[in-house]
Amino acid sequence: MAILNPNFRRLPAQYLFREIERRVAERVASDPSLGSRLLRAGIGDVTEPLPPACVAALHAGADELSRHETFRGYGPYTGHPFVREAIVAGEYAGLGIDPSEVFLSDGSKGDVGHALEVFAEGNRVGIADPVYPVYVDTNVLSGRTGPLGADGFFEGLFPLRANAANGFVPEPPDRPLDLVYLCFPNNPTGAMIDRAGLERWVRWAIAHDATILYDGAYADYVGDPALPRTIYEIPEARRCAMEFRSFSKSAGFTGLRCGWTVCPQALEGRLPSGERTQVHPMWTRRWSTRSNGVSWPVQRAAAAVYSPEGRAQVRALIELYRGNAQRLRHGAESMGLRAWGGMHAPYVWVSCPPGLDSWTTFDRLLDRAAVVVTPGVGFGPSGEGFVRISAFNSRANVEEIVRRLATTDLTR
Ligand SMILES: Cc1ncc(COP(=O)(O)O)c(C=O)c1O
Repeated sequence: MAILNPNFRRLPAQYLFREIERRVAERVASDPSLGSRLLRAGIGDVTEPLPPACVAALHAGADELSRHETFRGYGPYTGHPFVREAIVAGEYAGLGIDPSEVFLSDGSKGDVGHALEVFAEGNRVGIADPVYPVYVDTNVLSGRTGPLGADGFFEGLFPLRANAANGFVPEPPDRPLDLVYLCFPNNPTGAMIDRAGLERWVRWAIAHDATILYDGAYADYVGDPALPRTIYEIPEARRCAMEFRSFSKSAGFTGLRCGWTVCPQALEGRLPSGERTQVHPMWTRRWSTRSNGVSWPVQRAAAAVYSPEGRAQVRALIELYRGNAQRLRHGAESMGLRAWGGMHAPYVWVSCPPGLDSWTTFDRLLDRAAVVVTPGVGFGPSGEGFVRISAFNSRANVEEIVRRLATTDLTR
C-alpha cells in the first residue's frame, strides 16, 4: 500500500473558513431572516468584474486560438516575452529587473509554495505572525517543521511577531535565519512597511546571507509614492530577495488566475557542499519541469492590464476597494475600537473590545450586526484579540456595514 505524507496530519483541517461557514449556517438555521440581512466582509475575494480591457483581450486571445493563422500552442514555460516586458515596464522601470527574471504563473499562492522546492530542508525559516497562512502550511506539508507547539507556532519555524507595539511591522531579529517570509502590504493586518524599514531587512538579509521571500500581492494598494511598491526599490534586494506578485487583487483575476515571481540573476544560495550558486537557473528548471505555463488568452489579458485603458480601469478598482477600506476603518473606530490598516491595503485590522477574544467578537458581530468578519487568530497566534474586515465589497454594502457598526454594542 502506498505510504502517505504524514505531514498532512500536522495541519488543522481547513479550520478557519470552514468554521466561519459552520457558525454562519448555524445562525441562519435558527434565524432564517438573518440570511437576507447577512453582509460578508470575511474572505478576501474581489467582488467587481474584470476590467473591460482585460475582457476584450481575453476574447481576442480566444479568437486567435480559433484560427489557423493565429493559433498558438505551447508557449515559453515562464511566459511570453511581451507579457514579461509589459510587467517590467509597468512595475520595475529603472530598478534593474530584466524580463528574463520575471516568471509568469497562475497566481502567487502556488508560487509561494513552489518556492520551497529550490530550498533544501534544514533552512532556518522566519515567518511573520500573524500572516497569510500559506507560508506556514507549505512548510509544514513539506516536512520542514516539528509539531505544533504550545505557543501556537510549529516547532522549527521562527515567529516574527507583529503587534501594535511595532505597528504590525516586525524588525529583523537579532539571530541568523536563512529564509524569511515578509508580506507588505500585509494580509491580514493591512500594515505597510516604509522604505527605511525595508532597507533594514535587506541589510540584515545580506549580512546573514539570508533570502527574503517577499509577497507583494497587494502592492497596487500602496498609495504613497514614498512607500516601496516592490522590494527591488531597495537596490541590494536583487541579491537577497524573490518577489511574488499577483493580478488577483488589482485587476480582479482571482477567478482568471495569473501572477508572477521575480527571481533575480543576482540571487544566490549555497548547496549542501558549500558551493555558492545562482537560484535563477534552478527556478527556471523547476518551471520547465513542472509547468507548461499560463494559457494564451490569460496572458493576453495580463498584458492588457498595462494598456492605457487597463491601467485606468485597474486604478478605478483599487480606488473603490481602498475607499471601502478607509470607510470600514472609520466604522470600526466609531465603535470605540482601535483599528489599523486600510490605508495601503484592502484589509482593516481591528482590536477586539477589552476581554473579548477573536471568535467571541466574530460571534457578536454576526449575531448583533449580521456582519461576517474573519477572526484574527486564524492568521497565527499573535492574531488573537483581533478581527480582520475585508474591503472587497460594493460601496453600498460597505456603507451599510459602517451604519450597522455605528449602532452595534459589542461590549455586553
Ligand atoms: C498575501 C497573499 N499572497 C498571495 C495570495 C494569493 O493570490 P493568488 O490569487 O495570486 O494566488 C493572497 C490571496 O489572498 C494573499 O492574501
